[in-house]
Amino acid sequence: SAAEKGGYKHFMLKEIYEQPRAIRDTLMGKHDDGEILLSDIHLSDGDLAAVERIQLVACGTSWHAAMIGKYYIEKYAAIPVEVDIASEYRYRPKIINPTTLVVPVSQSGETADTLAALKDAKQLGAKVICICNVVDSSIARESHGVLYTNAGPEIGVASTKAFTTQLAALYLLALFLGQKCGHLKAKDIKRKFKAIEALPEQMEQVLSDEPRYTEFARNFHNHQDFLFLGRSYNFPIALEGALKLKEISYIHAEGYAAGEMKHGPIALIDKEMPVVVVATASEVYEKTISNIEEVMARNGLVIAITNPDNQLSGAVENFVVPEVDEELSPLVNAIPMQFLAYHIADYKGCDVDQPRNLAKSVTVE
Ligand code: G6P
Repeated sequence: SAAEKGGYKHFMLKEIYEQPRAIRDTLMGKHDDGEILLSDIHLSDGDLAAVERIQLVACGTSWHAAMIGKYYIEKYAAIPVEVDIASEYRYRPKIINPTTLVVPVSQSGETADTLAALKDAKQLGAKVICICNVVDSSIARESHGVLYTNAGPEIGVASTKAFTTQLAALYLLALFLGQKCGHLKAKDIKRKFKAIEALPEQMEQVLSDEPRYTEFARNFHNHQDFLFLGRSYNFPIALEGALKLKEISYIHAEGYAAGEMKHGPIALIDKEMPVVVVATASEVYEKTISNIEEVMARNGLVIAITNPDNQLSGAVENFVVPEVDEELSPLVNAIPMQFLAYHIADYKGCDVDQPRNLAKSVTVE
């Protein structure tokens, strides 16, 4: 009903706007004076310090969050991480021992493939800590420890606030592991926690830009294909941007690592091809710019997600977001992706909250 949507046209839009609040709730009570507090992890400091390998398993949007989680854990805890799609993980050889930590990531906690992957890993002796949004769900109950995302119920089939809170939770887990294995000091933790605490306000700034996306949808809803590009922490954001657009607007879209474009997708670029590029501040900014130049040289329509001082003159659109730490930029850059997909789908009159053929939670294999 309209009341449940809190005055928004769709649940998805309401949930996009709930993100700053959801992030605050995910962070609440998780930090004290340079220490990350995760009380539901239930593994001893000895077990945590012994972790030698981590495997993240997930499906759909949660898999994209897991891909970014790999970068966080490898950076902050220096533990090697593999990321698997749960339906692939299930049927490949598993090299697991008690120093292997498996981390299923799931909004619902009920996805059949993710649950089965968890059970297999546990059976083989892995320690399991899940990242989950639904309290007491099957995946939460089967795991040794849980890190809840506290996004609140997510109704729209296309995941939004669950995704950004998963990123926040993975960031916390990385800091936590970094501390337990002696890689990060209290003063590092303090600084990094402060940076993520500042995000909700920065996300508000992106939300206030919504009218620009309505305008964009009017001009771009007729395109048949979109390409999304990003590098490093924002490569999975490109994948997520493409997934969101496919899911709710039924427009074909492909996400790619910008540096890999020359190995295929560049063949698709012509004057009809919208290319959404994440070009916010990062260590690979210059590399991304050269990829954008390759698109422009072929008359592709560049739609850039940029910071205020780095707008691209050759782009047909610059969606400006505040500059934040590179590691945290995916949480900010996810919002333009959500708005792009939402407004194109809404302009086309699609059923945004209940897209055809999709389910909120896939509980069969
Ligand atoms: C379905 C949903 C997606 C979700 C995926 C994984 O495909 O439509 O939005 O990302 O399942 O769900 P989970 O609950 O495990 O995160």
